[in-house]
Order: sequence, then C-alpha cells, then structure tokens
Amino acid sequence: MTRTLIVANWKMHLNASQASLLLHRLHERIKIYRDIEVVLAPSMLVLQPLSLQIDRRKFRLAAQNAYHKDEGAYTGEVSFTMLQDLVHYVIIGHSERRIYFHEDLDTIRDKVAACVRNGITPILCVGETHEEHHAGETRQVLHDQVVTALSDLTSDEIEDVVIAYEPVWAISTFGGELAKPDDVKKQMTFIRKQVEDLYGKAAAQKIRVLYGGSVDNSIARGYLEIEGCDGVLVGGASLNYHKFSGIVHEAYRLRNEVEDSE
Ligand code: PGA
Repeated sequence: MTRTLIVANWKMHLNASQASLLLHRLHERIKIYRDIEVVLAPSMLVLQPLSLQIDRRKFRLAAQNAYHKDEGAYTGEVSFTMLQDLVHYVIIGHSERRIYFHEDLDTIRDKVAACVRNGITPILCVGETHEEHHAGETRQVLHDQVVTALSDLTSDEIEDVVIAYEPVWAISTFGGELAKPDDVKKQMTFIRKQVEDLYGKAAAQKIRVLYGGSVDNSIARGYLEIEGCDGVLVGGASLNYHKFSGIVHEAYRLRNEVEDSE
C-alpha cells in the first residue's frame, strides 16, 4: 500500500517568519509516521528558508507553481530546474491558476512535462467549476484536463504522477460546498479510468489520486475512507496547526484500523 499523502497548500499566505512558526507548531504535533507522507507547499519565497528548518523524516516540500521553460529570459518566473534540489513535488493546474492566471490545458501539459523532466513529481489538480457541474459537463471537463495534461508523458512516467480531484465549487474560496464522498468516489474512479484507457491498468493503479475541497479535521475521514483515495490536498485548514495536525492524525488512525483488520 502506498503512503497516505496529506498536502498543505498554504497559497499566498504566511511570510518567512509566520511559515517558520507554523512549521514549528506542526513539528511539535506531528510524529514520524511510516504510512503517512506530509507535504507542505508554502509560497515560493519561503521554500528556501523552510528547507533549512524542516525535519525531512516528517515533512516534504512542494512548490505551488513553476514555469515550464528550464532557463532563459522569462522575467519574474521560477523554473522546475531551479526547484530540483528544494522540492519533491510541484502543484500544477490548481483552479486558482487556471481561473485567475488563465492557465489553459496546453500550458498545464507543458508544466507537467517540465516537472517530470526535472525529476519532480507533479500534483496535477483537476476539477469542474460550479457552472460545468450543473451543466452536466463534469466528465468531459475531467477527461480533457487529465488526458491533455498527461499527453507528453510515457506510461512509466505517468505512474509517479499525483492527481488531485478538486471540484472548484468545493474549494473554500470558491464557494466551499461540501462534496459528498460517494460522488467524489465516482469521479476518482472516472479519473483512473481515463489513465487506464490511455496508459494501461498498471499505470492507473499506481498513480495516486487525492481529494481537495474544504477538507478539515472534522470531515477528512469521510474522504480518506474512499476506496482508491490516496490522500487529501488541504487549503484553508492547513494554515491552522490544530486542524492540519488533526487531519494527519485522522489519516494515521485510519491506516492503523485498516492494517489491524487485514
Ligand atoms: P480549501 O482549498 O481546502 O481551502 O478548500 C483546497 C485547495 O485549494 O487546494
């Protein structure tokens, strides 16, 4: 069984000293768990100082974005190449990037390819908007987002990819409606099926699929229990050490229950 992946997306919050304080609090509360991988995604500015402070047995780092060219005259951008020694993961195609920064399907495909080319694991975010959801377009949207994003990878490379299903309407800053775990399960199965159709069963089984959208410590379990759900991507609640460590503990409890019953 793969480790349960719990990702904190701090978005554009916390300067270096605030992030350092939050990391300190999380370090006090989160133990080294064999079955749980905890990943922190601070702002780009904070990655470097946090990397010096972090206990690598407990935490890994992710960037929230990067530019798909490796080097050159691209003022204001940071490349995947530059992040190689700092992070294990980069979040790609988050709905805030798609909506506010107009990242389209091709841009996201290029970023996923650049990420893999540089030896970093992509956390590809996919999900339908409120309008698409109500127009019955969810599957079409997920299909297009998944298929395009992965199209430059080989089936071996695909196996390492993480896909986060984040319905836009469920993200706290876009409405924060709670998605029902049963519905989430259907879409996660659909996402794996897209991978299977293109790259085969082995790849579809190996990719990790996360859920994201208003997850906090009180409801995390409902999503973590979904068959085929490999973890959660947490926004708002990850800024609160009590809530975020609570999510990690829920994941740990669940893993132990599952192992006891096996
Ligand atoms: P949320 O954000 O947990 O605040 O809904 C999730 C995300 O945007 O990744």
